[in-house]
Amino acid sequence: MAGDTSSVLAEDGPDAAASETTADAHAEFAQAVLEGLARQKRSLPSRFLYDARGSELFEEITRLKEYYPTRAETALLQTHGADIAEHVGEADSLVEFGSGSSRKTSLLIGALEGLETYIPIDVSETYLAEAAEWLAPQHDGLTITPLVADFTKTDALPDTARGQKLGYFSGSTIGNLTRDEAMAFLLNAAQLLGRDSAFLVAIDLKKSPDILIPAYDDAEGVSASFSLNLLTRINRELDGNFDIARFAHRAIYNEPEGRIEIYLESLAGQTVNVLGRDFAFAEGERIHTEFSHKYSIEGFQALAATAGWRGVTAWTDPDGLFSLHLLRRD
Ligand SMILES: C[S@@+](CC[C@H](N)C(=O)[O-])C[C@H]1O[C@@H](n2cnc3c(N)ncnc32)[C@H](O)[C@@H]1O
Repeated sequence: MAGDTSSVLAEDGPDAAASETTADAHAEFAQAVLEGLARQKRSLPSRFLYDARGSELFEEITRLKEYYPTRAETALLQTHGADIAEHVGEADSLVEFGSGSSRKTSLLIGALEGLETYIPIDVSETYLAEAAEWLAPQHDGLTITPLVADFTKTDALPDTARGQKLGYFSGSTIGNLTRDEAMAFLLNAAQLLGRDSAFLVAIDLKKSPDILIPAYDDAEGVSASFSLNLLTRINRELDGNFDIARFAHRAIYNEPEGRIEIYLESLAGQTVNVLGRDFAFAEGERIHTEFSHKYSIEGFQALAATAGWRGVTAWTDPDGLFSLHLLRRD
């Protein structure tokens, strides 16, 4: 079974266990928000962006013309699925980290002959439930065991994860982690997936800010709604009183760090109350909500190597925007 922060999505599991999980998740959210807002450089962990509404908004983002990553990764799986499967070889269980809607994963599952089990891991229970319902009829005989968990802390897989394992980290979600966090994640994934496992990791490549910024700050304002929804979530779940109209979404490209940084910026001097505590904001003061690190092919493979993963091969789209890396652990 999974570690203490995780729980297999219960089809008809005990209500007591479910409410315990919910209470834990609420306490964790409260602690992260109170600590994050009290810091001198305010920040909130990006995983909290994905409540039910946040997950819906992220799906809308994936369909925006400015948001190239989903299109590029889908095209890579469509074009190279058979080649990827050949390089992977035997795979009995597919373990996906931050699986979201699992739409792209369906292409990978279709390419992998003999796959028996799919274990999507996500903090968003809504996403997991919807994805499992959508996937099941398309892949007859596939056992699907969704796991509600924080993928940075998952220390065990469900019993259905048998045989040769393939990990999948799609959507360039690894970019949300700092380089140190990414290395810790890759080390943990190596333990979790075990010897002789393979790992397919989606990496967004370094490119001009002219392409990057619109992808994270689109003309329709869907990215802004996605960010601001975090404040709505705090208002609803933590008795907050953020005035959403007095905060704005900001996306900047930090060239030396090679990453997009997302902030919520206070448009006025104001005091906000969360769970009975006041937080004073100056005009222009920001709350950091997300990173999206960009890598070169070699840069990512060097990082993976420090965590014991050997780069087997990588596939990139013709425009060099995005890449899929197959790693192996000998
Ligand atoms: C950028 S989205 C990518 C979704 C999907 N993989 C795709 O490519 O479309 C990130 C996903 O990871 C999940 N997520 C973010 N942080 C997480 C964490 N620490 N543990 C588990 N899931 C997480 C979110 O709920 C969301 O589904």
